[in-house]
Amino acid sequence: MIKPSRPEAPGAAISLSAARLVDGEVEVFWKGRNSSARFSPFWLRDHCHAKASLNAETLQRQVDTFAIPVDISPADLKLADGGRSLHIVWHEDPVTSILPAAFLWQVAQTDGRDGAPRRRLWDRESIGTHFPSMPHGEIMSSESGLLRWLSLVEEFGFALATGVPATLEATEKLVRRIGYVRETIFGGLWDFTANLAFKDTAYTPVAIGPHTDGTYSIDAPGYQMFHCLQFDGSGGESTLVDGFKVAERIRQADPQAFDALTNTMVPAHYQGDGVHLRAEHPVIGLDHNGDYRQIAYNNYDRAPFRLPAARMQVFYRALKLFHESINDPALEITMRLAPGTALLFDNWRTLHGRRAYLGYRRLCGAYLNKEDFDSKLRVLRGLQESV
Ligand SMILES: [Fe+2]
Repeated sequence: MIKPSRPEAPGAAISLSAARLVDGEVEVFWKGRNSSARFSPFWLRDHCHAKASLNAETLQRQVDTFAIPVDISPADLKLADGGRSLHIVWHEDPVTSILPAAFLWQVAQTDGRDGAPRRRLWDRESIGTHFPSMPHGEIMSSESGLLRWLSLVEEFGFALATGVPATLEATEKLVRRIGYVRETIFGGLWDFTANLAFKDTAYTPVAIGPHTDGTYSIDAPGYQMFHCLQFDGSGGESTLVDGFKVAERIRQADPQAFDALTNTMVPAHYQGDGVHLRAEHPVIGLDHNGDYRQIAYNNYDRAPFRLPAARMQVFYRALKLFHESINDPALEITMRLAPGTALLFDNWRTLHGRRAYLGYRRLCGAYLNKEDFDSKLRVLRGLQESV
């Protein structure tokens, strides 16, 4: 469902200069913007903002879409409130429809879709040694601070928070500043040392190659936070790789491999601890525009699957190329997560890993759902625009 904008939404000052019927469509012209757009009469009736058609509180549609005559046509078009809205009288319906100019403008700009995320792809050289980072105090004390931090995560696929109290409680508060702690088979907020509590390599001190989490989950965790609460030993640096940068490199260098990685559904599984999870994702997931949507790669958790011989061979070759690329030192960054520094990263974009370590390490963290992070970012951006 396309969500209409609230009447008080940003852009409420936008107004119309004219409206006319052209080839069975309604063409509207915006004041001072030198542009117009056409809408079908049926669509306009379906998106009517009159009280009986749209609940102003919940923005839920109340018009009975399926009772609208398919050939509904305007009998009269009128600009109201100095052009702030368009009123339509219909031949086939006693209702006078109201369409706010700002709403029509917004839909005309985006077709009702989210815009592309603001991303900057990086490799070791381009990102340098100053990683995106914000002081914990700013993130916790102001909405603009939180927005800046989440925007860094959107742009780079990760960001650090510095000066976080090295406690489980402070880490949880930081996560909940963004959204819900996601419950998984590992629980909610984790707090673990190398004790092999679960049947997963994350619970051992060995090195872990770059991967994304939850390849076996239909809705893999969107974001993950790590906060090292205690470390007494050597090694254990965290590694990050921009999966979209890797994908872009493969797209340009080897179209056949790129095709195999984007079009082969790879099953993954998690069996143990009383569960049997299973999901399928392409290694490189694209959206309907061909933009990068989701990297899903964890060679440890890949489930058995077979393709016809020729395709299997191409897939293995492509998988090897992907593996070599994500392990290319030129694409990887490393950081030692010390108590007080929390790392938040996009698990649909950024691959993470860890060097082997010796000693005692206590790490806590949590998963966040993709939709909750995205929701918070939209809300914060809406607040900023309405100031
Ligand atoms: Fe992991």
